[in-house]
Amino acid sequence: MSKKEHRKTDQLTAGFLLNKFKISINPALAYQLIINCIGLFLIFKAVTNFEFQAEMLWIYIFWAIFSTLTEMKPITMPNNDQLTISFAVHISALILFGAPTAILISTVANIFTDITGRRGLKKLFFNISQYAITIYLAWLVYQLFRWNTGPLQLKTDAPAMIISCLVYVVVNFILVSTVISLSQGTKLLRQLTSDLMLELIHFASLVPVSLLIVILYNYEPVSIVILLLPLAMAHFSFENYMNLRTETRKTIEALADIIDQRDSYTAEHSQRVAHYCSMIADELGLFGNSYETLVTTARVHDLGKVSVPDSILLKADSLTPEEQSVMDGHAEVGFKILSNLNFYKYGALYVQYHHERYDGKGYPKRLKGPDIPLGARILAVADSYDAMTSDRVYRKALSREHAIKELVENAGTQFDPVIVNVFVNILQREKALDKKNEDT
Ligand SMILES: [Fe+2]
Repeated sequence: MSKKEHRKTDQLTAGFLLNKFKISINPALAYQLIINCIGLFLIFKAVTNFEFQAEMLWIYIFWAIFSTLTEMKPITMPNNDQLTISFAVHISALILFGAPTAILISTVANIFTDITGRRGLKKLFFNISQYAITIYLAWLVYQLFRWNTGPLQLKTDAPAMIISCLVYVVVNFILVSTVISLSQGTKLLRQLTSDLMLELIHFASLVPVSLLIVILYNYEPVSIVILLLPLAMAHFSFENYMNLRTETRKTIEALADIIDQRDSYTAEHSQRVAHYCSMIADELGLFGNSYETLVTTARVHDLGKVSVPDSILLKADSLTPEEQSVMDGHAEVGFKILSNLNFYKYGALYVQYHHERYDGKGYPKRLKGPDIPLGARILAVADSYDAMTSDRVYRKALSREHAIKELVENAGTQFDPVIVNVFVNILQREKALDKKNEDT
């Protein structure tokens, strides 16, 4: 059999077909297909239920433009979620006109935004679908909990509106977080809770705006134009705040990288330590702020070495007591720098205590056991492991097995035994995986 014929036969084997089948049932794709089917069905129902009234044409055009404006300039959050102010339009539209019209307004706005923003058909279909589902469920709940059947009565319908807003936010969070989690392989709980407080504040600030849109529209439809400016101002203020956070984080990380690179042996040390911390945090089930604070702080934990001169930092021989004291001072210096920044205000403590020992013989405060913050205990294990498995000016890198042995031997004295146990399990799993990959 020629090579060409062999390849042809291979392509007909069950393995080949299975591989092909596996690609077609990629979980992220399957999830998007399900959401798209439900969403497109709701949009189809909205189109068929929509009763066009010629005298309302200008009102339709106005709402389509209003909604499109609120879809523009989304704010990309660190967890890749994109925030817009369209929530206010969706809630007010579903209260004023019902679910079918609100779904159509949202769909048209997303199509317009896509034409100008070029987000791609895949994203467009998912967006219009997830919005259709979210709006429909929020509207169902609004109908279920309200007392009246006519226009909104503030005194009696406010609870129904608030519950409807809550349902909108929860459904939107779940639908969007799930697609990001499946596409990027991140844990769903971590995705859901990442930047949760900021996103909740963003949505909560838009609830009164939605109510104001409904009240103003019932009074005089065109009058809602006056809300455009405060809405835009609120959106850009939030965007500026997020930009400031991102710029602060990136600047401090760049500085930490430059400090790592002063010693060629420690280049990328902080990045690896952050990676180990993220694995330990995942295994311990940390999420939300606890997870984010740990990983972002680990990334810059040796920032205080900015105060250590090259003559000490790069010295190949052992340090004198005075030199050691300057070197040890990096934990306090790092704390002083980071505690001034709002973004690192909780993580600064992890930096201050990342050289404390579980038995109380560390520095700078000689804290003991659980008195040392959990983040600092995790950081100490990850930091020491990376230091052991990297070449240093005064010694060669230890093997993974040797470093694991060191961690286990020092569990309960230098390190928190629970964290060592968790980390060793992760490393053993990695080792087994590497062996399996080598064998295949
Ligand atoms: Fe350190």
